[in-house]
Amino acid sequence: MPQHDLTNNSFLLLCRSFHFLVLWCHAQVSAGENYPSPNFNQYVRTQGAVTDQLSRRQVRIYQLYSRTSGKHVQIQGKRVTATAEDGNVYARLFVETDTFGSRVRIRGEESGRYLCMNRRGKLVGKPNGRSRDCIFTEIVLENNYTAFQNAKYEGWYVAFTRKGKPITASRTRENQREVHFIKRLHNGPQRNGLTPAVI
Ligand SMILES: *[C@@H]1O[C@H](CO)[C@@H](O)[C@H](O)[C@H]1NC(C)=O
Repeated sequence: MPQHDLTNNSFLLLCRSFHFLVLWCHAQVSAGENYPSPNFNQYVRTQGAVTDQLSRRQVRIYQLYSRTSGKHVQIQGKRVTATAEDGNVYARLFVETDTFGSRVRIRGEESGRYLCMNRRGKLVGKPNGRSRDCIFTEIVLENNYTAFQNAKYEGWYVAFTRKGKPITASRTRENQREVHFIKRLHNGPQRNGLTPAVI
């Protein structure tokens, strides 16, 4: 009789232990599955907000050298041409990134005007750069030149002739030399004292 009781008790104890083990394992698995997920989502949200804020604030200053005209893009009032010499004040461009890196607004520092594209595909300098026709996607091409595609009129690029006149954007394509640019630092007119050849 007592012998039987003992066995019974031992069995009961073992069952309790096992039950506890199962509960414990379940808790561990749940912890593994559930807790990191919300934290990770939270992390991604936080990081996303931070990155967004930082890139929104980011401004780069450079000049844009046109592959065809061999001169730099300048914004003078409404007029946009690629005829500026290296270091010309009108060629000094403030390039603001819009949300994610490759979307930019381009503003001439001296004129305060934004590079925009009207609905006929003409490049114009506008005092306010908020609308989508004043936003461009920077595309780094395989040949290492950069092209600027308009955000509103997709497939339309910033382009200039050999004389530095803007080309109607509806007639542009990514593989044309006319849409190729090199971003160069703007170091001002006195940088090296060399006078570019007069044409
Ligand atoms: C573009 O630039 C990269 C890095 O500077 C270089 O490795 C590559 O050869 C360049 N490509 C061309 C086509 O010049």
